[in-house]
Amino acid sequence: MYTSRITGVGAYVPENVVTNDQLSKLMDTNDAWIQERTGIKERRHIKKGDGNNTSVMGVKAATIALERANLKPVDIDMIVFATLSPDMYFPGGGVQVQEMMGMRTIPALDVRNQCSGFVYALSVADQFVKTGMYKHVLVIGSENHSGGLDFTTRGRGVSVIFGDGAGAVVVSRNEDGKGGILSTHLHSEGKHKDELALQGPSTNYWVPQIIAENPTEDIPYYPYMNGTFVFKHAIVRFSEVIKEGLKANNLSVEDIDMLIPHQANLRISQFVQHKFRLPDDKVFNNIQKYGNTTAASIPIALTEAWEKGKIKEGDLVVLAAFGSGFTWGSVIIRW
Ligand SMILES: CC(C)(COP(=O)(O)OP(=O)(O)OC[C@H]1O[C@@H](n2cnc3c(N)ncnc32)[C@H](O)[C@@H]1OP(=O)(O)O)[C@@H](O)C(=O)NCCC(=O)NCCS
Repeated sequence: MYTSRITGVGAYVPENVVTNDQLSKLMDTNDAWIQERTGIKERRHIKKGDGNNTSVMGVKAATIALERANLKPVDIDMIVFATLSPDMYFPGGGVQVQEMMGMRTIPALDVRNQCSGFVYALSVADQFVKTGMYKHVLVIGSENHSGGLDFTTRGRGVSVIFGDGAGAVVVSRNEDGKGGILSTHLHSEGKHKDELALQGPSTNYWVPQIIAENPTEDIPYYPYMNGTFVFKHAIVRFSEVIKEGLKANNLSVEDIDMLIPHQANLRISQFVQHKFRLPDDKVFNNIQKYGNTTAASIPIALTEAWEKGKIKEGDLVVLAAFGSGFTWGSVIIRW
């Protein structure tokens, strides 16, 4: 068995900044409510004509990650693309990246695990590299939320939270064998699938049915979130899965140099931080600027933390996520 490590990180967010005040012109909400409940000040939205979509943003983030890994697209052996907002119902984003980046006819796999998508995708990449099957796997998390949210008062409980963006990492065979991705831990509990979900268009709610029913109240084609329920489960599962990852490596909370939680809600991150008594400089949050970018949130935060010099060689970096499904997971990395 080999070990794997992250050799390059990259992120891209659209230029268009949307503030809470701007949203309050579209729906009955306000800056104070959004900041108090979520910590979010602004987010990025793709603007019509700016050339972005989910796969294009993924390519922009991936290009930076590849440069930092000193690799060319031709060096990549596999793409794992995590998103809940693909450009097309099928095929997925991975094949679009393969085409746009001029890669070899390598495997391209899409991961559909929403806010845990990046952690799941990273785990998949890790398994392929550890077994020796592949040497360099490109992992992308990218989301175009703004294209599918309800920006009326009816949708305010969801639409103020989510933003657009992409992040990417290159997972490579760890040539010197030191550190790298120590372990990944993944979970699911499908009985809560309806608590945070987008029902259609899907084979349950196919387009002709939606048109025929023309639903006005129970709208199956906008995301639904039972916010309080999600919040309560998130804080429990985040804590559990971080502890699980540390225990598997005989580590303790004191060993953490940097915790990068999925940017679901600043209040969730703060709850976890206080529970583990971690100082501010050991937890990285940037939801204030980008909102919740689902599968993209961890790689965007990881990239920003790395760019700011907050992650150094030898640091113990912990990634943790929770989201729709419910699904959750953690990744323990010796950088
Ligand atoms: C969504 C969330 C911020 C809502 O906060 P909350 O304190 O639970 O608020 P509630 O949903 O109970 O709503 C409280 C009130 O605010 C209103 N409200 C909802 N969204 C609003 C908005 N954007 N602006 C103003 N008021 C809003 C509700 O209608 C409700 O009004 P009511 O009391 O008159 O019925 C919070 O539940 C949360 O963050 N949950 C986790 C979400 C998450 O992390 N999702 C991603 C998972 S990966």
